[in-house]
Amino acid sequence: MEKIEGNCREVCEATEFVAMVTTGDDGPHLVGNWGDYMRTLGVEEKRIVLPAGRYHQTERNLGENGRILLMVASRKVQGSRTPGQGYVISGTARIVSSGDAFDRVKARYPWARGAMVIDVESVKAQL
Ligand SMILES: Cc1cc2nc3c(=O)[nH]c(=O)nc-3n(C[C@H](O)[C@H](O)[C@H](O)COP(=O)(O)O)c2cc1C
Repeated sequence: MEKIEGNCREVCEATEFVAMVTTGDDGPHLVGNWGDYMRTLGVEEKRIVLPAGRYHQTERNLGENGRILLMVASRKVQGSRTPGQGYVISGTARIVSSGDAFDRVKARYPWARGAMVIDVESVKAQL
């Protein structure tokens, strides 16, 4: 699938956290965010916005290679065979410190130094 809809949306509505992987010179770099932060800022079909408080290494990585992978998962959503589903969401990301996304982040999370804006390219069920 190319956008967040259906079963993938259900998982985004339920996931406790979001794991995010970028690629740097020394390989993959894994960071986290909270599902409720993502939901508070609104999950669009093709865009996710998250508060960036740290993410300094992530930002350096994105400067060289904008690709990002996210994982969301919840036991509360039915998978294809058993209770529990997870999705890998892939796309590109950047951290911005001005504009609409930044203003929305800053209004809700004053501690944020930026907004991580993720443009979704595909979503793939894992279970
Ligand atoms: C569940 C979870 C939620 C997190 N939420 C945020 C967040 O909203 N904003 C943030 O900047 N870091 C958050 N972090 C911390 C970052 O993952 C961590 O500080 C990261 O190492 C910093 O990024 P960097 O290694 O790219 O510099 C969270 C971590 C976890 C495990």
